[in-house]
Amino acid sequence: MKKLALICIMALLFASCTKQLPQANYDIIPQPKELSITNEKPFVIQSGTIVYYEEGLQREAQFLSEYVNDIMGFAMNVEKYQDQTDGIVLKLVPDDFNQAESYEINVTPTQVAVKGADAAGVFYGVQTIRKSLPNCQPQTNCCQLSTCTIRDWPNFPYRGMHLDPCRHFMDLDSVKIYIDMLALHNMNQFHFHLSEDQGWRIEIKKYPELTKVGAYRNGTVIGRNGRIYDTIRYGGFYTQEQLRDLVQYAAERHVNIIPEIDLPGHMQAALASYPWLGCTGGPYEVWRRWGVSDDVLCAGNEATMQFVEDVLNEVMDIFPSPYIHIGGDECPKVRWQQCPKCQKKIKELGIKSDGRFSKEDYLQSYVMNRMAKVVEARGRRVIGWDEILDGNVSETAIIMSWRGTEGGIEAARKGHDVIMTPSSHLYFDYYQSEDPSTEPSCVGGYLPVSRVYDFRPLPKELTEEQQKHIIGVQANIWTEYITSFRHVEYMAMPRMDALAELQWNNPNPEDRDFDAFVERCRRMAQLYDLYHYNYAKQIFSHQVYTDTVVPNLATRKPIYLREQPNEKYASKGATVLNDGEMGRIAYTSGRWLGFWGQPLDAVIDLEQPATMSHVRFRSLVDKGAWIYNPSHASVLVSDDGETFREVAQMDIPITTWNDKDGNLTYELNFEPVTARFVEVIVKDHILPEDHDGFGYPAWIFVDEIEVW
Ligand code: ACM
Ligand code: ZN
Repeated sequence: MKKLALICIMALLFASCTKQLPQANYDIIPQPKELSITNEKPFVIQSGTIVYYEEGLQREAQFLSEYVNDIMGFAMNVEKYQDQTDGIVLKLVPDDFNQAESYEINVTPTQVAVKGADAAGVFYGVQTIRKSLPNCQPQTNCCQLSTCTIRDWPNFPYRGMHLDPCRHFMDLDSVKIYIDMLALHNMNQFHFHLSEDQGWRIEIKKYPELTKVGAYRNGTVIGRNGRIYDTIRYGGFYTQEQLRDLVQYAAERHVNIIPEIDLPGHMQAALASYPWLGCTGGPYEVWRRWGVSDDVLCAGNEATMQFVEDVLNEVMDIFPSPYIHIGGDECPKVRWQQCPKCQKKIKELGIKSDGRFSKEDYLQSYVMNRMAKVVEARGRRVIGWDEILDGNVSETAIIMSWRGTEGGIEAARKGHDVIMTPSSHLYFDYYQSEDPSTEPSCVGGYLPVSRVYDFRPLPKELTEEQQKHIIGVQANIWTEYITSFRHVEYMAMPRMDALAELQWNNPNPEDRDFDAFVERCRRMAQLYDLYHYNYAKQIFSHQVYTDTVVPNLATRKPIYLREQPNEKYASKGATVLNDGEMGRIAYTSGRWLGFWGQPLDAVIDLEQPATMSHVRFRSLVDKGAWIYNPSHASVLVSDDGETFREVAQMDIPITTWNDKDGNLTYELNFEPVTARFVEVIVKDHILPEDHDGFGYPAWIFVDEIEVW
């Protein structure tokens, strides 16, 4: 009897759908632009459902069947379309759309029709169905789709993510997972950074030493002080055959791979392989530390130029990409200044320094423009980092704006197409939590999902016409401190969700609803769990950091600054310093004021004479981000706000690599004094010899000044 009951229950479970059916949910990422629910009897996906496809869409149909199998545990049959009126139908209807990659989904009680402007459009329609299903678990065996019409299209034609497999190597299977992640987020451009000082990662048949020598370094710097190395040989590379396979894998998912050969800087691994490529002739090693190497390609050596042309030609043989990235960032000019060949070339070309750029900057433009011609001769376009604007780069080059959006703005005004990837909002190698002790160690900084979501890719400074030059948005993942692909996944998601929303929809700031976005992320996270992706979870738990100070004489009193903070870290201005709220460890939190090359000099009006004997303030140390503690602090007082007298001062020794980064408090104590105005001056250090930025001023970040 019991057994029979069990069988009955089992039969119920596995029978076709009953009333309490799981329901698909179209609130996904990116959010479809137009959705109208028609409230008829829902369509039910179940194991007998067939996916019909028109010519050219078989792969999209198979993907849909696989996705349903991943989520619900049954595969649907895939068949050629012949006017069936049931099931799921994938169609190409280019005339119904104004724009590539657009799609429409019509769900009726008997059919789900996915129509695309092209195969990519159908693919994104399929992704939308996939992302609507995660509520539907394997044991349910079916899922209801509310009847509806969805029309959807992307805002930006270029929707990218970058990966650096040079600082730390990522194997081919991992890179394929990365491409899967892009496809899931409707991204269509994978920027693959294949050459670096620390490792050359692409087989070049004409120059075999690049991968024999250049793909391996004999150790890696440990920690942050640039002095201690392990001695483990480290590296790896991709064969041309593997890369061709990868190109096809990506193309099937409507992802284009943009290879980057970063030149003329970031080339030390190539120099180690062929020392004649450099100005001094070496010897060079594949670099074991991070930073920017002074050793770069010799721009005055014709053989070096030929080398680059040959490399680019082999790269273009492998990658059919319409874009080829030729780098151009962070190229120090010290070798070129000393190199007879480079100086001879400058003379030959008749290049001169002017008020804006040095002759060596113009020599770099010569290299970039020459390589752009090689690329353009094969019908492709070059992309370069925003440094290539220094000089006279040809207007055909696409500019990737990474040092903020300024380069992108300048480039768009000059008529270049632009991809926005500012480190301030889209460098996914930064922390996601205000408290880095809760996360795997990374390069530094603080870039929560909300900050990504707040980014505006179309700068207000540009006219509507100029804004048309912003063709896309991208995030970058550099891997100095990311040693495994699991960590890459963690850095990518869910920041990628915010990025996907910007790329696909770029919603008006007033229409952005972060809380609603987080709810949609939760549903994406069900898919992340399904695919065993390692993702960050900070946005799913409400972590609010509000440290307040005890109210004191200075709290919320009128305050002004004699020196303005750096505009990037000016936050709400001087009032941040005495609003009663304390900055924690994230310098981008808006709770800190940041100064570079000038002191903090703040005057507080206590509004009436008061007796005081203590001043306290906080500073931040994030050495990787060039932020050090102050060198000196002083307190002055005044009765009239004009004539000040010093009552306390202190020298502060520079923090070292042995000291932990974080939030430091300084207190100046003095004999009681009665006055109405208090002035606090905090001065910077110069970056020390053991720092990448040796000789430059350190940043100082200051918050919450207390007086009592
Ligand atoms: C870059 O981050 N150096 C482009
Ligand atoms: Zn040279």
